[in-house]
Amino acid sequence: MGRVRLGVIGCGLASDILYGPAFEYMQKGELTAVMDTNAKRAKVLQERHGVKRVYTDLEGILEDRNVDAVMVLTPPQHHLAPVIAAAKAGKHIFCEKPMASTLEKADQMIRACEASGVKLMTVFMKRFNWSFQRVKELIKEGRLGEVFEVRARWDNVKVSGPSGDAFRMTVESGGGMIQEDGSHPFDVCRWWLGDVSEVTAHAMIVAPEHHPTEDVGCVVLRHESGAMSTLHVTGLTHATGEESYEVFGTRGTLEMRWLSHSTSTLEPALMTLYENSRTATDLTLDAPWHPSQRIREDWQYLRALEHFCECIIDDKEPQPNSADGRAIVEIVNAAYLSVMRGATVKLPLKESVDAKPLFSKLHQASPWSLEGRMWDSRYSRRR
Ligand SMILES: NC(=O)c1ccc[n+]([C@@H]2O[C@H](COP(=O)([O-])OP(=O)(O)OC[C@H]3O[C@@H](n4cnc5c(N)ncnc54)[C@H](O)[C@@H]3O)[C@@H](O)[C@H]2O)c1
Repeated sequence: MGRVRLGVIGCGLASDILYGPAFEYMQKGELTAVMDTNAKRAKVLQERHGVKRVYTDLEGILEDRNVDAVMVLTPPQHHLAPVIAAAKAGKHIFCEKPMASTLEKADQMIRACEASGVKLMTVFMKRFNWSFQRVKELIKEGRLGEVFEVRARWDNVKVSGPSGDAFRMTVESGGGMIQEDGSHPFDVCRWWLGDVSEVTAHAMIVAPEHHPTEDVGCVVLRHESGAMSTLHVTGLTHATGEESYEVFGTRGTLEMRWLSHSTSTLEPALMTLYENSRTATDLTLDAPWHPSQRIREDWQYLRALEHFCECIIDDKEPQPNSADGRAIVEIVNAAYLSVMRGATVKLPLKESVDAKPLFSKLHQASPWSLEGRMWDSRYSRRR
């Protein structure tokens, strides 16, 4: 097999800002078709990458014999239908996070892909970021000793005027900051520390006039190893919007932080390893200064996409796989259930939770208000 011929379903922000550079530098795949229910967005992406085939209906792109695999880049509540239809059409699937809002939908997707024998990669691109990979290696090598705790912090402004990201923070999409943003750090913590056995969470809505779902959350994960991860996630900060992780082991403590978000930068994380209560070693990775070289070698979305194409070419299981995607759906659902019950929730979950009553309770109970003020968001792109 030559290069994998890729079709994009959902030509919004992710296809443009995140995967746009990847389409330019991809070696193992090529963009051959685009589809969006919004014809204008599909056309913009088509023209930007000089793609011949453009569709506004799912059947069109799935019947296209020049498409081997599809990238599902639609809002989370619109992942299920294209994934099931693509599997039936025999196309391999690269599906953005969160895979689904419920375990039942995730299971339907997995079953459809297994029945058709197509690959399903749920995308957590941080696993393709050199800095995150370096931490994974340090843990594996035992440099930190026994790792007993990770503290993750995720601040990402999500209050703005009308934008193209209308699905974010809506009930229909499945949730707010815990689902949409928390999915990433949950995957990082699970990838580093292993499967999760218990979830405890708190959540609130500080800007009820702007959105109906949680904008602030605190989630504690207990891993099967006995280790603990905590995530503080907020959509409301006047600071830069920081992402950071502290990894505590019996032999070393690692601090890892970006000045903004790893999502939008080619810069490596600032990393310091503290050992023996006295030495501090700078483990920040080197980065070549050449911009296009940086994109080719370091851009996590390109590396994720190349891995997916390589798995199709070499008939290998993509990592992260569908079980990894499902595990995060389970954690998110357990977090909402924990907030509803005010108690720790043990995994595995038998079924998903209907979080709608929770969101409306949080909304009604909110003592906060921004009084009409806006926060600018890096997602606020007008079309
Ligand atoms: N990994 C990351 O860093 C990252 C960052 C941003 C978004 N995402 C994920 O990517 C996905 C898309 O996010 P986005 O920010 O690009 O959203 P977006 O709203 O900017 O774009 C979504 C596009 O999908 C189209 N669409 C909606 N329903 C459709 C359907 N049924 N069929 C075809 N097209 C449809 C919309 O018209 C829109 O153009 C989400 O799952 C999101 O969580 C991931």
